[in-house]
Amino acid sequence: MGRRARVVEGSLVIATALTALTAACSGPGDTLAPAGPGAHRIDWLWWTMFAIAAFVFLVVIGLLSYGLLRRRGQTGDDPDLEDRGGIGTVLLGGVAFPIVVLVALFVVTLVALEAQAREDEGPHPVAVDVIAHQWWWEFRYPNLGVTTANELHVPTGQPVLLRVTSDGVIHSLWVPRLQRKLDAVPGQTSVVTLQADADGTYLGECAEYCGLQHANMRFDVVAQPSNDFDGWVTSQQQVAAKPTDPMVEQGEQLFLGSSCVYCHTISGTNATGAIGPDLSHVASRTTLAAGTIPNTAEDLARWIADPQSVKPGTQMPGTDLTPQEMRELVAYLESLA
Ligand code: CUA
Repeated sequence: MGRRARVVEGSLVIATALTALTAACSGPGDTLAPAGPGAHRIDWLWWTMFAIAAFVFLVVIGLLSYGLLRRRGQTGDDPDLEDRGGIGTVLLGGVAFPIVVLVALFVVTLVALEAQAREDEGPHPVAVDVIAHQWWWEFRYPNLGVTTANELHVPTGQPVLLRVTSDGVIHSLWVPRLQRKLDAVPGQTSVVTLQADADGTYLGECAEYCGLQHANMRFDVVAQPSNDFDGWVTSQQQVAAKPTDPMVEQGEQLFLGSSCVYCHTISGTNATGAIGPDLSHVASRTTLAAGTIPNTAEDLARWIADPQSVKPGTQMPGTDLTPQEMRELVAYLESLA
């Protein structure tokens, strides 16, 4: 193979590897596809650090190449330090240059942190209390009287204050396209401002290992225009729908007569449990068990019948219902829009 062919082949291999690498990065969890001010700052910081690191890398490789090529022509004893530029070169390249680079990196980091801190000071039109559980997310809007799970609704273009804590072990709230990670620590409340600049659904996940189902602890951030957000708030504020259909009514009686009520809340009923998600509007959500399965009648039945087979380790116990009872129970839960 000629030299030229080898160069072409080498370039192709590098290009293919880079394509594969960058393809693996893009997607709903792509932190370099920012969609809000918080993520934009991280993106800016990342590219700035990358540019500085790339510059340093090229300078070092350049000097190394120069040294290697230059030495090749020489014979005899190694030249001593003085012949290679002296102590001045060592001080310049080994002390002064690193100080300049590290101070520059420190300053850009401070600028980003300062901007984030100013944003966290407010004002915030919407505030949400976030409670991380094993393994799901509870979102409470105290000023709006809304409690939901695994689906955070926010008005597009507005800063939303998240007050994050945990009821058990340490978790970490992360919406890669919108904001940095924020640890959810029991007994402590941490705050961060989340803002989405465009309508859409953004992936959120737990970014701190928290046990068996750490990977199944996702949530959606639904950013919607103000009017749609207000509409969502109004519908969530309603007392849970009362059954009008006999089958749904049977389902309601089944639910209220079972141990479900000790863990779940359904507004307007005697179900006031606070261990599992509030189900007053469970049918309005797109997933079940924190993004583990889609919220369809079939998957809901599977989840109620045997949660351990769907999400091993979950606190949700299984049930022993007849097929008819399951249809009634699912019909009731599906009516809670
Ligand atoms: Cu919660 Cu990992």
